[in-house]
Amino acid sequence: MGTIVEANALCKYFKTPRGMLHAVESLSFRIEEGTVLGVVGESGCGKSTLGRMLVGLHECTSGSLFFDGQPINGADRKTLKALHRQCQMIFQDPYSSLDPRKCVSDLIAEPIKIMGLCKNRREREERIGQLMDTVGLARRFALSYPHELDGGRRQRIGVARALAVNPRFIVCDEPVSALDVSIQAQILNLLQDLREEKKLTYMFITHDLSVVKHISDEILVMYLGCEVERAPSADLFARPLHPYTQGLLSAIPIPSIHVKQGGYIMKGEVASPIDPAPGCRFASRCPHADEICLSDMPPIEEVLPHHHCACHHVKEINGLPER
Ligand SMILES: Nc1ncnc2c1ncn2[C@@H]1O[C@H](COP(=O)(O)OP(=O)(O)O)[C@@H](O)[C@H]1O
Ligand SMILES: [Mg+2]
Repeated sequence: MGTIVEANALCKYFKTPRGMLHAVESLSFRIEEGTVLGVVGESGCGKSTLGRMLVGLHECTSGSLFFDGQPINGADRKTLKALHRQCQMIFQDPYSSLDPRKCVSDLIAEPIKIMGLCKNRREREERIGQLMDTVGLARRFALSYPHELDGGRRQRIGVARALAVNPRFIVCDEPVSALDVSIQAQILNLLQDLREEKKLTYMFITHDLSVVKHISDEILVMYLGCEVERAPSADLFARPLHPYTQGLLSAIPIPSIHVKQGGYIMKGEVASPIDPAPGCRFASRCPHADEICLSDMPPIEEVLPHHHCACHHVKEINGLPER
């Protein structure tokens, strides 16, 4: 097992009538095969854009991306198609991502047909049945339409579609955010089981830190397109270092999550991602911000072993010794 995804200074900008929108700003990280990278941040911070770049639904504006050691940038179409077949995405709202005119069986057949994975109809039907078993969707629903099913079953169709092409890497983009709390755990358990069974690698995107705590090996916290903190999951929860992460954690109403330092309620507005001001993107909401935060973007640095943070004042805020 090695590194399956590697991103170096990955950027995605969108041209808008009001200026250049910096959706993803210079992200660098690796995902080791068989692990889960949780990506957390408020709505609009660039999580979906990042995920879409990784599965080939967006081209990056700059930076480089490698899948299984192979460069994605500049690859020819045939190579890209082969790479992208190994990368799939599960979307937040299975209802809007599924064609309402197709029944379950046809929806699962779609990626199988596109990729030409089965020789004939009989083989395809067998494969659809197996996929339904795998995701825990009873075969009696094969001819049902999405609107006839509840959210959990609809998301199981989304999972089956992603699995249909035997991917190695799946971006799960808020896969349980639209579901009732009672159903969330079922889908999370399904994703966990599938990962172990099929040795999958996930990027698990969510705005809700409590959802990724158990499923992630490592967590990347984003704020307005930038990486502000990245650490093994247990370390991040035990000792959040960035003021933004500390704010996020203290907003989780679970008594067992204990924020030792700097817990506070975040105030202020998220700045605009369009032609952003220099300096730290979080400065406008940060209780520790001073001049340097407004003028210089803090670099991401390994502050504790495997624990990276982008904050000019990380050491004084957390009582860490200056090196
Ligand atoms: N196709 C697009 N064109 C222009 N702006 C976009 C496009 N897609 C996303 N954005 C903008 O990029 C930013 C990040 O969006 P997104 O990645 O969807 O965030 P998240 O998934 O974290 O909510 C937002 O400001 C959003 O409006
Ligand atoms: Mg999103």
